[in-house]
Amino acid sequence: MASEKPSKLPDDITLGFIGAGKMGKAICGGLINAGMVKPRNISVHDRNTNMLDSIRGLGVTIAKDNGDVVRRSQFVILAVKPHIVPIVLKEINRVVEPNNLIVSIAAGVTIATIENLLPAKTRVIRVMPNTPALVQTGAAYVSPGTSVKEGDVDLVAEIFSSVGICEVGREELLDAITGLSGSGPAYIYAAIEAMADGGVKMGLPRDMAQRLAAQTAMGAAKMVLETGKHPGLLKDEVCSPGGTTIAAMHRLEKGGFRGALIDAIEAATLRSQELGTKSPGE
Ligand SMILES: NC(=O)c1ccc[n+]([C@@H]2O[C@H](COP(=O)([O-])OP(=O)(O)OC[C@H]3O[C@@H](n4cnc5c(N)ncnc54)[C@H](OP(=O)(O)O)[C@@H]3O)[C@@H](O)[C@H]2O)c1
Repeated sequence: MASEKPSKLPDDITLGFIGAGKMGKAICGGLINAGMVKPRNISVHDRNTNMLDSIRGLGVTIAKDNGDVVRRSQFVILAVKPHIVPIVLKEINRVVEPNNLIVSIAAGVTIATIENLLPAKTRVIRVMPNTPALVQTGAAYVSPGTSVKEGDVDLVAEIFSSVGICEVGREELLDAITGLSGSGPAYIYAAIEAMADGGVKMGLPRDMAQRLAAQTAMGAAKMVLETGKHPGLLKDEVCSPGGTTIAAMHRLEKGGFRGALIDAIEAATLRSQELGTKSPGE
């Protein structure tokens, strides 16, 4: 089920970030850029002061520690690396109250692991976002824990819908989601870089080649999303008989392009499953 773009989050919503690295900053910056949350209603803590310095400019409240983030925020987004999650949960365990909703974006750390490290009945939601949230083009997937209240999932889905699209569903699908959209921006960056390299090889200036490659990727993605046509059909529509595009497609097929992408998503999914079966920190 895809969540619609929200009109607005409640005015008084308070949000906290534990970890202000790549993802924390992308989501926080995306929400502020979209005008969804007042910067002063967002509290952030990161053990790395360089990260805090780089996020301070957004006008957010810098909390003195992770417990302070929890005390100031209804929604607490855990945006630290998976092996750090248990350390943070032990640290905040004593200050978590029933009004807090703990939202983890850590790959491979299950809802059960998080719930077991927090007071009984803590409201937990697991989300797999991706970094294009920074430019309001994220793709997120939201899965509820066992003690969420009515409306919790909708609000979290609204938060992530405000910086892109958001799907809601079962936790069992999260490893595959991680392999597809969580890690996916890297595959597309690699494709854009390779297309730009191809343009440079054929004599185009680097900057122009990169802009054209990136815009082409964005345009093709919009065609899929906005026309609703099958991507195979859209591909057929640009392959004229005996033309340039079908010659290129033949090369891509010979190079195992589609098989490589399917393998990539399978590899990332299996790695996410592997991370989930180890206790975080192993
Ligand atoms: N990056 C992605 O594309 C992506 C996509 C989907 C999901 N995720 C998930 O998002 C989470 C964050 O990933 P990321 O790429 O944003 O990592 P990151 O850039 O390394 O950011 C994590 C930040 O948390 C800080 N930190 C570490 N321990 C802390 C503690 N005890 N208290 C407060 N802050 C602490 C880190 O500081 P130090 O530098 O000092 O360690 C770092 O600044 C991960 O769990 C990942 O699985 C990431």
